[in-house]
Amino acid sequence: MVASENEISYNILYHTFCIIQNVVYIWGMKKLSNPFLSAGYNGPDYFCDRIEETQQMANFIQNGTHIALFAVRRIGKTGLIHHVFNQYKDNSDIVCIYIDILSTQNLADFTNQIATEVYNYFPKKKHFGRKITDIFQLFRPVISFDELTGTPSLSLTMETKAQKENTIGQILSFLDSQNIKIVFAIDEFQQVLSYPEKNVESLLRTSIQTLKNTSFIFCGSNQKMMNEIFNSAKRPFFASCTNINLDFIDAEIYKQFILQKFASCKKEITPDCLDFICDWTGLHTFYTQYFCSQLFFKNHTHNTLAIAHETAHEILKLNENVYFQYKNLLTQAQWNLLCAIAKEEKVFQPQSKNFISKNNLGTPAAVKRSLDALLEKEMIYYQTGIDEPFYQVYDKFLMRWLKIKF
Ligand SMILES: Nc1ncnc2c1ncn2[C@@H]1O[C@H](COP(=O)(O)OP(=O)(O)O)[C@@H](O)[C@H]1O
Ligand SMILES: [Mg+2]
Repeated sequence: MVASENEISYNILYHTFCIIQNVVYIWGMKKLSNPFLSAGYNGPDYFCDRIEETQQMANFIQNGTHIALFAVRRIGKTGLIHHVFNQYKDNSDIVCIYIDILSTQNLADFTNQIATEVYNYFPKKKHFGRKITDIFQLFRPVISFDELTGTPSLSLTMETKAQKENTIGQILSFLDSQNIKIVFAIDEFQQVLSYPEKNVESLLRTSIQTLKNTSFIFCGSNQKMMNEIFNSAKRPFFASCTNINLDFIDAEIYKQFILQKFASCKKEITPDCLDFICDWTGLHTFYTQYFCSQLFFKNHTHNTLAIAHETAHEILKLNENVYFQYKNLLTQAQWNLLCAIAKEEKVFQPQSKNFISKNNLGTPAAVKRSLDALLEKEMIYYQTGIDEPFYQVYDKFLMRWLKIKF
């Protein structure tokens, strides 16, 4: 379908409006110092709970146990890693290095990403930093600088296949031989499955096995891929890590956190408003945080259910344009199934006669095809590890919007 000129200008106008609105929000956040983060990590004051998980991860780190951290997207895995690492920020005996490999396309990118983070971690003026710089010189690095942040980025020379395969092991062995305890957190680790080199897992596993002072936290949001890497008996990483499954934050604890954050800024929030937020966002951390931050921006002293309803409406309105784009990207059958899942919120048996006939979805085989496609596109997820697993729309706001509109 070709968009008309009117539609295009409307889209440009709308996006400009969204950008301006976000800038105003960000500016407002600074001014009001909004206590609800929906991006990044900003220290324990802004972080709700995760006490047990933090302690558990800290214990594993002390013991040098490798960790595989599983959970759906936007629940707080990356936040938890930063929170755990934050505990060691004044501890000179443990070096914690966080690496996000989502943008990497192959083994060389992966190696360069690790090299860059290691290089940037250690201050160049200190003895160890100089040593690291000297080691990297052996790989004839090209150093470029991020235009926005000015942070250096390393690109090591890896021309031959052997160089590509050996460099990561050489860097890790060198660091390990320095008798400092290092923890690497590799985020979005499932990305290695998309590399053209099919031996990355075994290369890594082999070099990790030889290390004595280095441990790893592997983290990823794509449950299927993460399971494939860590829980398949045929693959190199099988049984090499302790699995941690990150769950939703307890409702009562989250409510207390929200209440206390509003109270600390001399704002009230009514119990029914709190209940609504937790229910409407399904306690999915990002969505709960985002909702609370929007509510906070409205700057009411007394936050009631009516104000929460208004906020919910505004959030959906702000995202509506994107939701309509999804409709164009899915087939009619996929879209119908997505709407049906949204309406029910949780679907336990999507191929059951009852669900199919109630929602006019055709044959069980057709539903299965759409279900697989929606899972693949991460429009829905399958919540397992509980008595009765179910399917749910991934984006909680999209789910609310679909429930209202279709
Ligand atoms: N325990 C927490 N308390 C408050 N906010 C959190 C917490 N965990 C995560 N967040 C917020 O939710 C957002 C999504 O979390 P993130 O760690 O990026 O999820 P994931 O890595 O699982 O996709 C974060 O940017 C952060 O602002
Ligand atoms: Mg993350």
